[in-house]
Amino acid sequence: MKRKLLIPKQIITVNSKNEILHNNAVEIVKGKIERIVSLKDFKSSEYDGDILDYRNYTLIPGFIQTHIHLCQTLFRGLADDLELLDWLQRRIFPYENSHTKKSLRASVRLGLHDLLTGGTTTLLDMGTLHHQEVIFEELIASGIRAFAGNCMMDKNELYPTFCETTDWNLKSTFDWAKSFHNSNNGKVKFGFAPRFVLSCSEKLLKETKEMMEDFSGSVFHTHSSENKSEIETVKRMTGKENVEYFESIGILDENTILVHCVHLNDNEVKTLRTNSVRVAHCPSSNLKLGSGIANIPRYIKEGISVSLGADGAPCNNGLSIFNEMRLAALIQKPIHGSTVMDALTVFRLATIEGAKALHIEKEVGSIEAGKKADLVLLDLEKADQPLQLDDEKIYSSIVYSATKENVRSVMIDGKLVMDAGRCLMFDEDELIKNGKNELQQLLKRVHV
Ligand code: GUN
Ligand code: FE
Repeated sequence: MKRKLLIPKQIITVNSKNEILHNNAVEIVKGKIERIVSLKDFKSSEYDGDILDYRNYTLIPGFIQTHIHLCQTLFRGLADDLELLDWLQRRIFPYENSHTKKSLRASVRLGLHDLLTGGTTTLLDMGTLHHQEVIFEELIASGIRAFAGNCMMDKNELYPTFCETTDWNLKSTFDWAKSFHNSNNGKVKFGFAPRFVLSCSEKLLKETKEMMEDFSGSVFHTHSSENKSEIETVKRMTGKENVEYFESIGILDENTILVHCVHLNDNEVKTLRTNSVRVAHCPSSNLKLGSGIANIPRYIKEGISVSLGADGAPCNNGLSIFNEMRLAALIQKPIHGSTVMDALTVFRLATIEGAKALHIEKEVGSIEAGKKADLVLLDLEKADQPLQLDDEKIYSSIVYSATKENVRSVMIDGKLVMDAGRCLMFDEDELIKNGKNELQQLLKRVHV
């Protein structure tokens, strides 16, 4: 494979020193960052590879989102202004339960389009109960880096027809994990995804955790402590708070990603820390569903892993990481003071901290020699951005002012998936046409 030299305006490395490099380029060989090259004495006429000239754009690592529901993208705007349990019972469960392979495929493609064009290059997806192979097929076809798994549910009092037996869940999970863990040259890995306590028996949770041992490098991904009514129900069922219950059945460790963690007591926060549990923070979902505000500054201060995710399209209602970064910063300031969750801290949550949560920080999350070339180019030379873009202000621009409109090009494993503002993996018009058609048919199958 020919070597490529990507020349940006500047490189936001997100390395341990948070270096920002000017007059440097990134050399890419076989999908990896071979080296960072000083351009001081560089003569392009003497370079024997391809030169990718992006001198007007800022190079950053691809964003990493640690909680997504691709299967829900089709339902964007169809479940507004409801709190979690109503939202699930009256909308999301009936909709998800009505997916055919075709409607699921349409949903996943719409979601991947939204994510890729917003600069997300790695995601952790929660999947759905049926037809999970469709999600894997689309993840592989899109080229995105992903952890994904079928959403496990062996009980469902809110919507009883949307679940399967414990044995069915375990068997199908094992089969999907065997087929897709480390697929697409290791770019796609399995994320075991028991949905939440209200949809999972203790046997299912425990045996899933045991099954993980056969799949090194996978993660255990579940919702926890999102909403007060949900937690009350967990308490009635188990006699314990959500995280305390998880600890009591032995499923918490450094491979566990708990999504939300909005309402925790002091003991639960300690439990997260001592078990090295990862927290996936989804601020727009937490606000839109009225769930509350997680004490993220405290978690970070206590050394708990925190990363970001948009959750599903019907609870945010957009999958852009820029929304999540901005909200992650802003919502804490009235509570903890304006100095918390500064732009650099938040930008790291969306990049290297996401990589650490998934244990892939040796591969992605920063721009350093040896890592995969998962890269994003931003055009920050805009009238709506800070005009004095010195090193400190660059994070302000990305976290507080930028949107996905500023994303120009996106590369995964050194391959462009978006360039010059255009998605190279999907035809947007076709996605809309097909999505509308599938949604129309789905809405005829379900009455909500
Ligand atoms: N808890 C259980 N299922 C879901 C879901 O689909 N979305 C959110 N936000 N919380 C959940
Ligand atoms: Fe979720």
